[in-house]
Amino acid sequence: MKADDIKKIAVIGAGDMGHGIAEVIAMAGYTVNLYDIKQEFVDRGRNKIKESLEKRVSKQKMSADDLNKTMDNIRGFTVLRDAVKDIEYMIEAAPEILDLKTKIFKEADESAPKHAILASNTSNMSITQMGAATKRPDKVVGIHFFNPPAMMLLVEVIHGDKTSEETMAVSYDFISKLKNFRGAMAPVRVEKDTPGFIFNRVNAPVGLFMSVLYDKGLADPEAVDAKIRSIGAPMGPYEIMDYTGLDVNLHGGEYFAKTLSPEFKPANWLRKMNEAGTLGKKTGKGIFTWPGGSRPAIDLSKADPNFDPMDIICLQVNEGTKLLEAGVTKSAAEIDKAMVNGGGSAFGPFALAKSMGWEKVAQRCEAISKKLGITWFMPAATLKKGNIQI
Ligand SMILES: NC(=O)c1ccc[n+]([C@@H]2O[C@H](COP(=O)([O-])OP(=O)(O)OC[C@H]3O[C@@H](n4cnc5c(N)ncnc54)[C@H](O)[C@@H]3O)[C@@H](O)[C@H]2O)c1
Repeated sequence: MKADDIKKIAVIGAGDMGHGIAEVIAMAGYTVNLYDIKQEFVDRGRNKIKESLEKRVSKQKMSADDLNKTMDNIRGFTVLRDAVKDIEYMIEAAPEILDLKTKIFKEADESAPKHAILASNTSNMSITQMGAATKRPDKVVGIHFFNPPAMMLLVEVIHGDKTSEETMAVSYDFISKLKNFRGAMAPVRVEKDTPGFIFNRVNAPVGLFMSVLYDKGLADPEAVDAKIRSIGAPMGPYEIMDYTGLDVNLHGGEYFAKTLSPEFKPANWLRKMNEAGTLGKKTGKGIFTWPGGSRPAIDLSKADPNFDPMDIICLQVNEGTKLLEAGVTKSAAEIDKAMVNGGGSAFGPFALAKSMGWEKVAQRCEAISKKLGITWFMPAATLKKGNIQI
């Protein structure tokens, strides 16, 4: 199969991600079979797409005719075998529960045409295990959109242990044909099924670093965020935690503690905030206060002169280097592409740290590791040798 052969796509789950993925795909002219377990969930997903497109029309960024065409491309389903029976491609965006996902893959495998590719939008779970639930593991792949799909350009295309090169190539080409509100989608290949894939993995040590500094009373969130904003970033790291949700951060920490190192175990402050139900933006209070859901007031004059944003960049480069060593991605440039398109920065960590010199980056990681007593931050061998091409 070639990407041009794809005409009809099933999106399984019409929640936050599913409806956003359906929106981007339907805008590109594909037929979307949008499935959820209840008609009301399908309708809610369709309504959210319509509301989002209506905003585009009111800003004169889309014609009413294109809105109607996009909506006409979306059909609702509540019976899975009907949703997948004549598709070329499926993207599963059901809740992050492995048993549920493997069940969906098994059922879809039984009803979808033999040539159809079955993809999962999982944030973390094993593509290989989903493939094992089917009789076509070579045609099972990860397609990881970022939230919200209509605004975020990065899509990670993830290789399960048995995914074929054809499935990877067709999936990559298919994603390359899509555009969201900001521009052309930016696919990045992830050559191995590994915890956090690329974007979330490169950011994992940053989350740990910020969490430990806060836990030890070594950082004032407002002062750190003010510093990061002073160099042009749209949001500081603590505000990002609140924005994503402290519950999501807690689960992320637990997941990396299980799969990477016990050092990722969530800190006490994070557990306490979760127990208290102060989860960030979604509850109006987290590390900061979010009055009426609007952004917290960060006093930019409070920028911490002692906080060096290069600490964050160095930790990202180190984690990215580990991915290069493990063959998860082929180049530092691909990592930078993922970090630029998955976040809001103009440059990736490798491009930003290059002029510092890789040996100095390694020394900085070692110093942070020793100061905080976290061995995960110790520099990768390739970084110490300065053997990185960009
Ligand atoms: N939210 C994010 O920021 C984000 C980002 C990237 C990836 N993801 C991943 O995308 C997937 C969906 O996440 P979400 O945030 O959209 O969740 P969500 O809870 O908003 O949506 C899940 C949808 O799946 C439906 N569902 C429940 N059981 C189902 C079943 N058996 N079959 C099909 N659909 C079923 C629910 O009714 C709901 O509409 C997860 O794997 C998640 O890890 C989430």
